[in-house]
Amino acid sequence: MRRAMQRPVVGLAAALASLVFLLGLTLVSAPVRGQTSVQSGGQTAPQRPAQQPPAHKELMAEDVYKNIQVLRGIPENQFLATMGFFSASIGESCEFCHDDESSWAGYAKDNAHKQTARKMILMMNAINQSYFGGSRKLTCYSCHRGTDLPKVTPILAEQYSAPIVEDPDVITEQAPGESSADQILDKYVQALGGAQRLAAITSFIAKGTYQGYAEIDKSPIEIIAKAPGQRATTIHTSNGDWTTTFDGLSGWVAEPGRPVPLLELTDQFLEAVKVDADLAFPGRIKQALSQWRVGYPTTINDREVEVVQGSSGGNFPVKLYFDKESGLLVRQVRYTNSPVGLNPTQIDYADYRDVSGVKMPFRWTTTWTDGRSATELSQIQANAPIDAGKFAKPAAPASSKPASW
Ligand code: HEC
Ligand code: HEC
Repeated sequence: MRRAMQRPVVGLAAALASLVFLLGLTLVSAPVRGQTSVQSGGQTAPQRPAQQPPAHKELMAEDVYKNIQVLRGIPENQFLATMGFFSASIGESCEFCHDDESSWAGYAKDNAHKQTARKMILMMNAINQSYFGGSRKLTCYSCHRGTDLPKVTPILAEQYSAPIVEDPDVITEQAPGESSADQILDKYVQALGGAQRLAAITSFIAKGTYQGYAEIDKSPIEIIAKAPGQRATTIHTSNGDWTTTFDGLSGWVAEPGRPVPLLELTDQFLEAVKVDADLAFPGRIKQALSQWRVGYPTTINDREVEVVQGSSGGNFPVKLYFDKESGLLVRQVRYTNSPVGLNPTQIDYADYRDVSGVKMPFRWTTTWTDGRSATELSQIQANAPIDAGKFAKPAAPASSKPASW
């Protein structure tokens, strides 16, 4: 998203941050419930088994937003990720289709690009329907490849240059000749300090800063985790506290500035926070995910890495990249299913330091289709006493205006 990266995705970073961040963990195809004019079939990801409908009424995009003509019947919690997919596909920030980002109502206004985008959705659906049996073979990205006007003439330089090796979104089978997932994960556990030392850490409190893309200020962040599988993150933004909580069973996002300020997490979103909570205690990594398989090795910053993919219960692939030499986890890539395509999210880990005999990353960068954030920890306190109330359902934030900066 070249241009969008230069021109910050104003007004969106806060709106999308937690949602896409969460969404980014997933590659399941959350069924699109109700009537929809968007195709939900043909995911590259394996389909998960049929699910029980949620007990509470799920909010649809049209229940929350004012001017939804085409993308009706999409769960509200997938709507902004759909917008992120548009931005990433055409390489433009939100303002290309939304002139007025000063309020949520501003996004409801139409401009020519937004109207073209509606036609594009219908065209894309019609092609998928007529030519690909209703399966999602063609997306905005297939034609646009990160530019607003798709190219029509082949570029000779591209034809004769070395092909870009593309990272597949899903590793479909174990690559022949590569190490087993068990070997790579064992090496990782060893590199962190060994199973015994990892098991001795049963909770931690981490403090540091969080900086959204294009934000000048850093916000204080606090991450609290308790084994097995409880985790809460609070970012003290100037607009109020933004928290993501998982108590082991249920999860919530309370974020000022979102149209739905307190979101109860379900389906793919709940799985996402569960995986995050599980990975906070990497001694249990093998049990946290299943269907492990290893893909072909690749390089990150000129260093060789091994790629391991695991899935959660609901077919939820997460790709983990381990430095071949050090054995440490350097990257995680996961995908979100939006109604129009998969949104990748990438987390790059750095600055591993010793905490009670165990190595933990103190710095990571999260990149998703519309933004990027940098988290930098200053301290991690292992086995700190944690008040059980820290994982309770958070209160709804007061402000529902989009954050402005
Ligand atoms: C390529 C054009 C395009 C881009 C880029 C885009 N949108 Fe949209 N957006 C649309 C279209 C089209 C609709 C209306 C969908 C419909 O009618 O079903 C819409 C609707 C919305 C709405 C609903 C407003 C309302 O009340 O009706 C919001 C909010 C929104 N977009 C946010 C964003 C954000 C945030 C971004 C940046 C990540 C973004 N959009 C990027 C095309 C775009
Ligand atoms: C089958 C190929 C194809 C697909 C799929 C496709 N587009 Fe397009 N799109 C085009 C072409 C070709 C143009 C340029 C038309 C022209 O030059 O007038 C275009 C133009 C646009 C424009 C206007 C750009 C400008 O600068 O005026 C927008 C916005 C857009 N597409 C959004 C989308 C979105 C959003 C999707 C996914 C829902 C999408 N497109 C899917 C081929 C495609």
